[in-house]
Amino acid sequence: MNANPIGVFDSGLGGLTVVREIRRELPRESIVYFGDLAHLPYGTKSGAQIQRFSLESTEFLIQKGIKALVIACNSSSSAAFHLVRKRFSIPVLSVIEPAVEESLGMSAAGKIGVIGTAATIESGVYEVALRRKNPRIQVFVQSCPLFVPLVEEGWLDGGVTERVIEKYLTPLAHKGIDTLILGCTHYPILAAEIHSFFGPRVRLVDSARPTVRRLASLLQEKKLLYEGKRKPKFEIFTSDLPRNFRLVGERFLGEKLPPIKVVR
Ligand code: DGL
Repeated sequence: MNANPIGVFDSGLGGLTVVREIRRELPRESIVYFGDLAHLPYGTKSGAQIQRFSLESTEFLIQKGIKALVIACNSSSSAAFHLVRKRFSIPVLSVIEPAVEESLGMSAAGKIGVIGTAATIESGVYEVALRRKNPRIQVFVQSCPLFVPLVEEGWLDGGVTERVIEKYLTPLAHKGIDTLILGCTHYPILAAEIHSFFGPRVRLVDSARPTVRRLASLLQEKKLLYEGKRKPKFEIFTSDLPRNFRLVGERFLGEKLPPIKVVR
């Protein structure tokens, strides 16, 4: 079982930020990634629809023999984590809890901002998870739907992007937050711009790192870590291939993409 791959899915290629971190932190592990590009974006869809797509994505990865699953998509983690965890017997991780814990450890003022897609923000999962761990924490949320197309288009800085960032994030700045959870796969790509909007007063939380730390300790605890010498495999499957997939995918992964297999 130990040599089996870790499964990661996302609505698209944004979840490759999590894969990048797995490859850094757990370089011996094989990875199978599924990007549900045919149904992207999840962030504007209903919870029921996101649950259906998430179950289908998980089924696909289970058939690939995965030993554990990371739901890299915040919208799926919000709508479908409990359902997926109940339905399948392998360990399943969402990106929400690790980001919540990281932010609570970082915030001195107890004022945490959360940004994400409409689906994630409307689900209220971050507020619930933060308040469950610390009822005194003040949470301020904001959906930023235009951030996803900006990143996909490669508009990572410049006037339009600055204006959009300012428009969405000014209300959070007025609340005096000192920590901001980037609750969407795409937002870490805008981290430099978001950081320069807030200045050093606000610390940004990217869920990839704490999620992979948690994955590593979970695999260790369940004796699922691969400790052999075989070269790790890294496969990417998607349900569609849009025109600019290579450019977008490599931006998230931070290295050349392996050949992508399209499954219908
Ligand atoms: N992967 C999604 C998320 O993290 C962003 C893109 C989408 O809306 O599908 O919420």
